[in-house]
Amino acid sequence: MEIEAHVVMGDAEAMKGTAKAIETNKATVKSMVVQSLASAEATLTGDEKEMGVVLVDMGGGTTDIAIYRQGQPWYSAVIPVGGMQMTRDLSVALKTPMHMAEEMKIKWGCVMPEMVAADDEVVIPSFQGQPQHSLSRRILSDPLNARMMEIIKLIVMKVTQSGLKSFPSGGIVLTGGGAEMTGLAELVQKTLGGQVRIGYPEEIAGLPDQLRKPAFSAAVGLLLWGIKHQGETRSSLNGDRSMSGLKSFRWGLGRRKVAAVR
Ligand SMILES: Nc1ncnc2c1ncn2[C@@H]1O[C@H](COP(=O)(O)OP(=O)(O)O)[C@@H](O)[C@H]1O
Ligand SMILES: [Mg+2]
Repeated sequence: MEIEAHVVMGDAEAMKGTAKAIETNKATVKSMVVQSLASAEATLTGDEKEMGVVLVDMGGGTTDIAIYRQGQPWYSAVIPVGGMQMTRDLSVALKTPMHMAEEMKIKWGCVMPEMVAADDEVVIPSFQGQPQHSLSRRILSDPLNARMMEIIKLIVMKVTQSGLKSFPSGGIVLTGGGAEMTGLAELVQKTLGGQVRIGYPEEIAGLPDQLRKPAFSAAVGLLLWGIKHQGETRSSLNGDRSMSGLKSFRWGLGRRKVAAVR
């Protein structure tokens, strides 16, 4: 008998810590799903998975990748660079505290300097005795563009490591909070070509508008995963032992439990 499986390994201590944090809040952990696969669940179409697609979930500290081929998850990887590094770069470039850099990134950030009009100016509020001053919006764009180009190179490296010779015909779907960055789809399209789109969480009827954002793809994907795998009783294993210190891990979150996690 032959079996093809997608095996995801995680740090046992981190997994235990995560489960413990959930369980101290009176919810039960039934199973764990790697972030990129959860996001894929909420964003990818069946056709994309069939044609082959690279899902990129850009979060705060990491960029998570999942590659689907012939309808199935085929490869996953985590790049330890995300939106937080972009904020840090901006904070260094503009000599502003992180929280201000974060605000400016979200309000005025753009990773395609050529999309920003040359005379577009933004106001940096006063802080620590420094007076309020204005700045060309393009100056904000340069460090964001540089860091995003680095992330794109790392994505290409992972896709190459996966064994693919080129990007699959389903293209690239970008999601996660970082995918809301202005100019991102345009930059990825210009750099890598092919189909590029931003992935929004779909498939849950009546999802409130505030949750219809790329930042919530993984969370919505977890709900979908739970609904899909309800009643299944596979256990996650840690090496040859069941996750020690935890009651059994099972697939399938009941609806009531999902509500409790929120
Ligand atoms: N409108 C936006 N433009 C650019 N970056 C954004 C925007 N909204 C959120 N982000 C960034 O997305 C990151 C968080 O993504 P998210 O998917 O919520 O995090 P995680 O999955 O790591 O919990 C942060 O670095 C944040 O700055
Ligand atoms: Mg996220």
